[in-house]
Amino acid sequence: MNASMHDLLRKYDVPLPRYTSYPTVPYWDFSTINETKWKRSVVDTFKAENGELCIYIHLPFCENLCTFCACNKRITKNHDVEGPYIAAVLKEWAMYRALLPTAPVIKEIHLGGGTPTFFSADKLVELIKGITGGAIVNESHEFSVEVHPNYTTEEHIQKLAAVGFNRLSMGVQDFDPKVQFAINRVQSFEKTKEVVDWSRKHNYNSINVDLIYGLPHQTIRSVELSVNLVKTLKPDRVAFYSYAHVPWKSKGQRHYTEQNLPSVTEKWAMYKKGSELLEESGFESIGMDHFALLTDKLFSAAANGSLNRNFMGYTTTQSKLIIGLGVSSISDSWHAFAQNEKTVEVYMEKIDQGVLPLVNGHVLSEKDIIIRKNILELMCENETRLDSDLLEPRFIHNASSRLENLAADDLVVINKTNICVTTRGRSFIRNIIAAIDPYQPADKSDIKMFSNAI
Ligand SMILES: C[S@@+](CC[C@H](N)C(=O)[O-])C[C@H]1O[C@@H](n2cnc3c(N)ncnc32)[C@H](O)[C@@H]1O
Ligand code: SF4
Repeated sequence: MNASMHDLLRKYDVPLPRYTSYPTVPYWDFSTINETKWKRSVVDTFKAENGELCIYIHLPFCENLCTFCACNKRITKNHDVEGPYIAAVLKEWAMYRALLPTAPVIKEIHLGGGTPTFFSADKLVELIKGITGGAIVNESHEFSVEVHPNYTTEEHIQKLAAVGFNRLSMGVQDFDPKVQFAINRVQSFEKTKEVVDWSRKHNYNSINVDLIYGLPHQTIRSVELSVNLVKTLKPDRVAFYSYAHVPWKSKGQRHYTEQNLPSVTEKWAMYKKGSELLEESGFESIGMDHFALLTDKLFSAAANGSLNRNFMGYTTTQSKLIIGLGVSSISDSWHAFAQNEKTVEVYMEKIDQGVLPLVNGHVLSEKDIIIRKNILELMCENETRLDSDLLEPRFIHNASSRLENLAADDLVVINKTNICVTTRGRSFIRNIIAAIDPYQPADKSDIKMFSNAI
């Protein structure tokens, strides 16, 4: 007999990675890489990709602390930090440019944070011009920015559009005043709508809204209210994230307690309600926690098998070279990862000394690369095949026995080494991926590294 949803939620709501990378950061082996090896890997992939690359720039400053936030941010009202930080990022980019044998072809730039629009519109333009100067911008480029509506002006939207920005992602999280008070983020619907209207006026062709389920004091009614309001904004995409509770890492989350958080069953009911409301109005569920209109590129990519996922989330761009600039940014050359220093001061100091500010990294083994591809397929297509010619029998044996347990709960269908995620299994995708992740211990009871899977 099938286990009830309630039983499954209790069984599978254990700490697990979100798989924004594979191997996941806590399992990287920094001894496998150094600055010279990293630089060589960047150049090799650059050549293999015919000079094409994507750039992620982390802009960490925010004026106000949203207590739920798990991102790398620095809270300050001092805008004097803008100039030196932009200068450091441009110097870091110059170090990469010096390595590249030809002018890079930029396919994507993503400004993430923190709050990129903490910076003045003119400073952001200076940054983008500094990055694209002497480079080739791909004809079908995607330039995107994350904005907090409270700190965004029409000047930001207009000046970023003028330097090629065509995608925008805005944080909402929840519109219920009680939730907004609990997370210290009071954001009106009117202000949010104003930013959406400016973005349409300045021809951004894809607008994303971030919502979260599982926040303190959130209820099904708050989710209903928020999703219904978001629907009236007519975004092209909605990211509906599961709240990650990691108070040992994000101290702001100690402003409330576990008692203020919904139970796992309530959290799942919120997800179900929100996704039903989105699907009713024409959004399709894409991969893990994303929804897109049928007219959005993310939907076509999911439909034609070209959906991809990287540190920035789901994307339609297939690129094996991502250069991460700024504090805490992660770069990916497909064969290796490298992460920058996580505090602003140390990052700036290293840049000042003219060295790449690497603090962590990992060279992927052949096995890592094979499993990474399997994980991407599960995340993007809900299906994959473990290659028994390439993977050792012991790995296949261990993965199979973990998968059999998931199959018994009707979360996957296994056919030899083919793994197909069932509709029910889609809510447990992190558990399914963990079953083929050899770095994941079988007993996860004392892991304090990750948020819970649901
Ligand atoms: C850098 S923030 C967004 C940009 C901007 N700073 C803002 O707040 O609107 C990126 C997104 O990460 C998500 N996020 C942050 N902390 C989270 C957490 N603890 N659990 C789930 N999602 C989280 C939020 O949805 C947020 O909009
Ligand atoms: S949610 Fe956005 S604005 Fe709030 S603290 Fe995090 S990065 Fe800053």
